[in-house]
Amino acid sequence: MIDMSVEIAGVTLPNPVMPASGTYEVDDLHEGFFPPSELGALINKTIFLHPRPGNPPPRIWETPCGMLNSIGIPSEGLHKFLEEKLPRLRSLGPPVIVSIAGNSLQEWRDLAAAIDESGSADMIELDLSCPNLEQGFIWASDPQALAEAVAAAVEAAKLPVISKLSPNVRDISEMAVVAERAGTAAVSMVNSYLGMAIDIRTRRPALGNITGGLTGPAIRPMALYSVFATFQKIQVPIIGIGGIATWRDAVEFLLAGATAVAVGTQNFVDPTAMRKVINGIAGYVERAGFSAVRELIGLAHQPQSA
Ligand code: FUM
Repeated sequence: MIDMSVEIAGVTLPNPVMPASGTYEVDDLHEGFFPPSELGALINKTIFLHPRPGNPPPRIWETPCGMLNSIGIPSEGLHKFLEEKLPRLRSLGPPVIVSIAGNSLQEWRDLAAAIDESGSADMIELDLSCPNLEQGFIWASDPQALAEAVAAAVEAAKLPVISKLSPNVRDISEMAVVAERAGTAAVSMVNSYLGMAIDIRTRRPALGNITGGLTGPAIRPMALYSVFATFQKIQVPIIGIGGIATWRDAVEFLLAGATAVAVGTQNFVDPTAMRKVINGIAGYVERAGFSAVRELIGLAHQPQSA
């Protein structure tokens, strides 16, 4: 019997596979593909404090081996989320991570405190790295802003805080160190890479917001490198994200140093992808002669045996 559980900031996940925020909705449609109770954790599409419409369409553009998105985090706001979405997430069984985004330090505080007080979440993820917001400000691209936002949320909530980091920086591993010093209990990496496409029929940018975030298998080697480069610089766990489409990809991230992994774009290609990734990891662990999935974490850092 393989032990698939992993631990993030004192919270036990039954297995290391979860959706990336915004790529998997807990609703009747998705519950029809496989029971969400099989997942390692659940997470919502990021919420803001107040309702907001998100970006103008088109919001999605397919690219070779990936996708540009510029959704702009439409949100029904905290109040509606607490009333309608969070109870359903909580009822399903796996640990619940609530993804939040603030426009100011006070909003980070207010959101983190409200999620904490709800009593229905296990962890809070700070979406510090969306590249698609109207002001164009990415908290995780500036060390001081990153540290202040993380510290604000950490002070406001007793729940463990995860910082979702941006790859659109000179060295993401240094930003992970900044987040750790500010009190984050884990980091998730990476969010999407800033990019664009031009529609040659209209001769204009393809996305309504002009730029978007690139995700999918096209970014996997860069995301994997980010995890690998960060693993030995911080003590807190890493949730690996970036183009994970199969169990083999997930195993690579675990070997690079991720404690858990999030599947994103592949959920749109195959709504059963996460189930396949979970089962595939378990099979790999067993075939390789390990008894627990956590034995894989960071193994790629060990010197090669002769
Ligand atoms: O545009 C978006 O809603 C993307 C969000 C994110 O990358 O965090």
